[in-house]
Amino acid sequence: MSILVTGGAGYIGSHTCIELLKAGYEVVVVDNLCNSSEEALVRVRKITGKEVKLYKVDLLCQEQLTEVFQKEKIDAVIHFAGLKAVGESVQKPLEYYYNNITGSLVLFNVMRKFGVKDIVFSSSATVYGNPRTVPIREDFPLSVTNPYGRTKLMLEEIFRDLYVADKDWNIILLRYFNPIGAHDSGLIGEDPKGIPNNLIPYITWTAVGKLEAVGVFGDDYDTPDGSGVRDYIHVVDLACGHVKAIEKLKENPGIRTYNLGTGIGYSVFDMIKAFSKVSGKEIPYIIKPRRPGDIATCYADATLAKKELNWSAVRDLNVMCEDSWRWQKNNPNGYQGG
Ligand code: NAD
Ligand code: UD1
Repeated sequence: MSILVTGGAGYIGSHTCIELLKAGYEVVVVDNLCNSSEEALVRVRKITGKEVKLYKVDLLCQEQLTEVFQKEKIDAVIHFAGLKAVGESVQKPLEYYYNNITGSLVLFNVMRKFGVKDIVFSSSATVYGNPRTVPIREDFPLSVTNPYGRTKLMLEEIFRDLYVADKDWNIILLRYFNPIGAHDSGLIGEDPKGIPNNLIPYITWTAVGKLEAVGVFGDDYDTPDGSGVRDYIHVVDLACGHVKAIEKLKENPGIRTYNLGTGIGYSVFDMIKAFSKVSGKEIPYIIKPRRPGDIATCYADATLAKKELNWSAVRDLNVMCEDSWRWQKNNPNGYQGG
């Protein structure tokens, strides 16, 4: 069975390619490499000893995408491709709507033309906005505060409309919490371009001396230690969740939504401490004002994925930190080497 992975050269996509190949699937990647490197897939081949085909194609180019579907017999799609930086999306809303929404519409259209109607989509816990309570269940109210989040919510709505119109589609919406960590080989991991926005790459860059200190965005939240609490999930657990979702599609489930999180919340200070322990380095930090748009606490109720996908996260905080650290230490400049 052959899976088309859009955005498969990216952080979560490359880890998912490995798990798909390990599970015996053939993998075809479509990626325009706007936020990733071909080297990630070279390393995926090295880790698995298997072939993964890469088409350097932009989803916005219907012609080139059609050619991929003509050449390859695709059975199902995992759709990761998209722009994902919240702050940048506020500055460049048109680019975000065009790339994420139009790119997806082109993809769905080509899929329909070729009779491929099974898809797994990368959504985000960001669609829950500021939840009234935690843990967050899939049936909680949805709201978003920035263009990036809005592209996720709009695409979820588009999928719901699509399913109403055509029940032949099988659609699994996966709402990720905070993916961190890396493959335990240390060969692939997160490789942000420019100064990282997210906490974990910021911490690991500080630990290797590329940055001076971690800014803690607020120590006055209503949380046990005052800093923000999140549900950090190992990227390999997340990748395994996609394999389970592909298996679920075979049951013709219609449209389903699942949280992929651990159900455990850790604070910014917890994360700094855990990384300090694993790396054996002191990680300097300074308290900064709250980051606009941030919420105090966010963690998943992950019981639905356990029940219906037979999936749960198994890698704990220590493993997440060790694996992130191994990747960072071995590849201080990411895929650029040096
Ligand atoms: P990433 O940037 O590493 O991967 C996305 C990939 O999509 C990149 O390789 C990029 O080159 C490619 N891409 C973007 N636009 C494209 C286009 N028009 N045509 C072809 N390829 C294109 O990001 P990631 O962290 O691996 O995230 C994957 C997906 O998961 C994204 O949709 C993201 O919004 C979603 N998500 C990520 C997180 C997270 O914290 N990383 C959390 C929730 C949801
Ligand atoms: C962010 C996005 C979210 C996206 C997710 C994954 C925002 C508001 N939300 O989630 O939409 O799905 O990334 O890409 O950007 N922190 C610091 N110092 C830092 C960075 C972060 O203290 O330098 C804190 C934050 O305040 C937060 C926690 O660390 O409490 C995690 O932040 P981050 O890694 O950016 O993820 P989220 O904000 O949860």
